[in-house]
Amino acid sequence: MQPPTRPDRNIALEMIRVTEAAAIAAARWSGRGDKIAADGAAVDAMRFVLGAIAMDGIVVIGEGEKDEAPMLYNGEHIGDGRPPQVDIAVDPIDGTALTAMGRNGAISVIALSERGTMFNPGPCFYMKKVAVGPRGRGSVDINASATDNLVELSKRLKKPVQELGVVVLDRPRHVDLIAEVRESGARVMSITDGDVAGAIATGWPNSGVDVLFGIGGTPEGVIAAAALKGLGGEIQGMLHAQDEETRRSAEALGYDFSRVLSTDDLVASDNCFFSATAITDGDFLRGVRFHDFGATTQSMVVRSRSGTVRTIETFHRHNKLEEFTSAGF
Ligand code: FBP
Repeated sequence: MQPPTRPDRNIALEMIRVTEAAAIAAARWSGRGDKIAADGAAVDAMRFVLGAIAMDGIVVIGEGEKDEAPMLYNGEHIGDGRPPQVDIAVDPIDGTALTAMGRNGAISVIALSERGTMFNPGPCFYMKKVAVGPRGRGSVDINASATDNLVELSKRLKKPVQELGVVVLDRPRHVDLIAEVRESGARVMSITDGDVAGAIATGWPNSGVDVLFGIGGTPEGVIAAAALKGLGGEIQGMLHAQDEETRRSAEALGYDFSRVLSTDDLVASDNCFFSATAITDGDFLRGVRFHDFGATTQSMVVRSRSGTVRTIETFHRHNKLEEFTSAGF
């Protein structure tokens, strides 16, 4: 008989400290109306903790090009150079406007996968997406209409279309999509920002969300793919050019706007890691609470190889907070 294999390192458990730090730093700015300050605080805190992790990481999805992002820029090497070699996608705040306005749904996220396995969005800022949870996997097709997808999903989930919850970003570009979903009888749950959390909600038990449709950020699509791999769901994407110039420059670099990007195309490794900490309250995690003791955070940590999903509530003492909260405590 083979001896049992020892569990290997789950680096996502270390990543939770990274998203916790960023979420707490961001939460200091929640409701203060300053998106830039909130984002800056989250980036500083994320990088501070990330730099201490033993790994050889390259930022594939970061805060932008080096000249516009002094930290966590695309291509930046992170960690102390020891294995594992990983690609990193960060979004210190998904929902900067939500954070600044003190609205629900902002999270801090990070995803890691084996080196060379993460889709690089390059100049393609937008992507059309359809995301479903584990039970809906295989029932949707990004090339089909929203109506057809809802019919197929309803058969798969064995519930009437009228009971399906559909998340769509509230944007002028989605006016027709929202009208079509309503016409089909399904319920639209429109969000003003934060489609990573929207995609995760499709794979979260009892979130009330069955599917996400619409055009959002490509980086957010890749990050959602890492999370949905662990949750057992699916995301399909198709790059979307907001103008002809973007299309031309991206096509010159080899990007194909007619290609369907599967979950595996977005994150090719089946050993990927994801951590999210809520900044403000959301469908599946409670936002940061400050109190006499320090602060409390709620996070989710997912690893795709094992399919383990953990939700973790952490109490942070004042002295810890001072370390990674640039605003002080
Ligand atoms: P930020 O937090 O970086 O502002 O992104 C929020 C977000 O709503 C994403 O979740 C979403 O993918 C993207 O913006 C949509 O882009 P746009 O606001 O341009 O429609």
